[in-house]
Amino acid sequence: MSTKTRIPIHVKVSTQSILHKVDFNNLPFGKHHTDHILVCEYKDGQWQDVHIKPYQDITLDPAAKIFHYGQSVFEGMKAYKDKKGDIWLFRPFENQKRLNISAERLAMPALPQAYFMDGLCELLKLEKDWIPQTDGSSLYVRPFMFASGAGFHASPADKYLFVIACSPSGPYFSGKIKVLIEEKYARAANGGVGFAKAGGNYAAQFFPTHLAKERGYEQVIWTDDNTHQYIEEAGAMNIFVRINDTLITSPTSDRILDGVTRKSIIDLAKYKGIHTEVRRFTIDELIKASANGSLKEIFGAGTAAVISPISGFGYKGKDYALPELENSYADRFKKMITDIQYNRTEDKFGWRYKVTE
Ligand code: COI
Repeated sequence: MSTKTRIPIHVKVSTQSILHKVDFNNLPFGKHHTDHILVCEYKDGQWQDVHIKPYQDITLDPAAKIFHYGQSVFEGMKAYKDKKGDIWLFRPFENQKRLNISAERLAMPALPQAYFMDGLCELLKLEKDWIPQTDGSSLYVRPFMFASGAGFHASPADKYLFVIACSPSGPYFSGKIKVLIEEKYARAANGGVGFAKAGGNYAAQFFPTHLAKERGYEQVIWTDDNTHQYIEEAGAMNIFVRINDTLITSPTSDRILDGVTRKSIIDLAKYKGIHTEVRRFTIDELIKASANGSLKEIFGAGTAAVISPISGFGYKGKDYALPELENSYADRFKKMITDIQYNRTEDKFGWRYKVTE
């Protein structure tokens, strides 16, 4: 048991590391797993001790409610290693808070902050050799919680598992992406779970994204479920557009995820004096701006992809290309954010969190 933490953490170290099997010069996103996972069970109305143990399968009752009613929420985070070998997280308390916001919406128990933070830091210290040091690579961290309690009654489970698994990862996308503006399907609706990081929100994207891919697009731009006129998100990311020099992003709502990268970009833009508008915007506005040349950029923002520039979009059978820009906002924000994340620059906002002593 660790002596430094405030909660009981039991650590069983793997005797068979698979670290040597991974090519760190050629890291796909999210494919490899590290040697250990963290598991904590909720039962009898409380969270039990935290266990860090060798990476292994999780055995569940076939009636576990995750399988039937989809009670499952997750977070996406990254751990970075700087030149000196110190380990950093980026705004981890935002993820910890959001996990509980998501959990509440799905009638799941809140996880106390110490279980999340102390458990995560202990796991990262154990997995420190798994954190890539090359630019563009990091240790993707996936905390998740799901209903392990069993029963076919459609009601919340009485048992849950909180798990953290990690994956040494390279970039999520290899280059610019071409997107299709969705006219029929929606990822979220008012009063629904769109703002939560619920597994089902992502499952609901797979079929429309598959249809878009068949038509030669890589991702779907989500529009509002009511009119399909307002632009809301880009694939599994928040969306930003630049019209002339104004940066625009949709406001968070029942339907839009309160992304950590999204809010960091808004703060950085304000700090840099970039005129920023957090407001609803329509497809019409984009098409008019594209026609008169004022539409300069569209990019997605999220933890996994950081910032993903969009090369063009399709709508109602027509393609609209975006210009190639020098010194784009996408490149500038990506540099500003990753410089903070990898401890390459001063952190004026206090976003960096040191894991190692
Ligand atoms: C992330 O950006 O970390 C996410 O959670 C999106 C995921 C679908 C890769």
